[in-house]
Amino acid sequence: MVSFLKKLFKAKSVPTVEVQPFGASFEVPAGQTVLESALEHSVPFPHNCTVGTCGACKCRLVEGKVKAITDFGYVLSQQELDAGYILACQAVPQDERIVVQVQAGIEDAPPSERYLGTIIATESLTHDILRVTVEVDRPLRFVAGQYANLKTAALTLPRCYSFADAPEREGNRRPSFMIRKVPGGAFTEALFAGSLNGAAVSVEGPLGDFHLRTGSGPMICIAGGSGLAPLLSILEDARKKRVTRRCVLLFGARTQADLYALDQIRAIAGGWRGGFEFVPVLSNEPAGSDWEGRRGMVTEYIDAALAGEADRGAELYMCGPPVMIDRAIEVACNLGVDLEAIHYDKFTDMSTTARAVAA
Ligand SMILES: Cc1cc2nc3c(=O)[nH]c(=O)nc-3n(C[C@H](O)[C@H](O)[C@H](O)COP(=O)(O)OP(=O)(O)OC[C@H]3O[C@@H](n4cnc5c(N)ncnc54)[C@H](O)[C@@H]3O)c2cc1C
Ligand code: FES
Repeated sequence: MVSFLKKLFKAKSVPTVEVQPFGASFEVPAGQTVLESALEHSVPFPHNCTVGTCGACKCRLVEGKVKAITDFGYVLSQQELDAGYILACQAVPQDERIVVQVQAGIEDAPPSERYLGTIIATESLTHDILRVTVEVDRPLRFVAGQYANLKTAALTLPRCYSFADAPEREGNRRPSFMIRKVPGGAFTEALFAGSLNGAAVSVEGPLGDFHLRTGSGPMICIAGGSGLAPLLSILEDARKKRVTRRCVLLFGARTQADLYALDQIRAIAGGWRGGFEFVPVLSNEPAGSDWEGRRGMVTEYIDAALAGEADRGAELYMCGPPVMIDRAIEVACNLGVDLEAIHYDKFTDMSTTARAVAA
């Protein structure tokens, strides 16, 4: 009876979180997320949007339970959820002790800084993708595959865009981005209307940990729409560095009119040292057109691209729409690719969070 009363009236203890591999341990006051507390305690926890959209705060829950403010499943795949991954910016501890494991970031990544930029050129790549060149006030260094936050005066929150060029040794003065028009989107509608030509834009970067890992197994790269941008950056950089891995670039588009950067891809393929195959796959090309290439969903061709090497160091590098990436993770895991060998940036937007909050 005494112990029952003690339990009943014991002040509720404040949960503690341990973050591996930093070894940091701190309390999380009621109502705070794991990320909020980590940042308050100066733990260098990877993050960007803080609203459950970008996936930057993805970490593995090693011990304890958390409650999701917005469903992790809007950003993480089923395979990642099954493996215990959570989003720290949306996780509130439910147990007295929580242990999370953060993935190692990019070794020697340049620090993220804020640059003053001007949109100096836009070039139409397809009916809904522009190459946008931004001149920044000083050279911007990044690792191929990373992205930047762009923000104009009219936006409340920045928008993420992957660097489309290979990094230059001294930093890029005129980085370019490949930006797809999102119907109803505040930034891209203005961009496509031409009202941002010459506009000032704040550029924060580099951000993210999408990059080419060292390895000798095949690289299966999968791009959807403007998701080609960071893969071109990675592939051009890898070509310059004389990477000798077998590489397959699967490019998913709707019709022939949605294919772009073909000359650039041909140039990369021509200079590649380890066998390069480019496989464009069209999902909505009219039947009976002159298209002789692959048709269907790009994820249907992962098996052929792996060519039986799923368990021989194969890695997947993917960028594009969330639905394509989720399906690709499922297919690749079923084919025996290790979840840890699957690297991606999902091109999520404000509607991702809005859907999760509304659910
Ligand atoms: C790491 C990362 C890298 C990326 N890289 C690229 C890239 O290289 N190229 C690229 O094209 N894109 C990229 N994206 C996506 C990009 O950041 C933007 O999300 C996209 O361009 C949309 O911006 P926007 O301002 O036009 O649209 P937003 O204003 O963000 O709106 C997007 C959609 O959500 C809807 N919406 C907005 N607010 C709400 C709300 N409250 N409720 C319901 N619906 C809402 C809008 O109507 C619209 O349909 C990347 C995203 C991430 C996370
Ligand atoms: S910081 Fe958590 S999803 Fe963006």
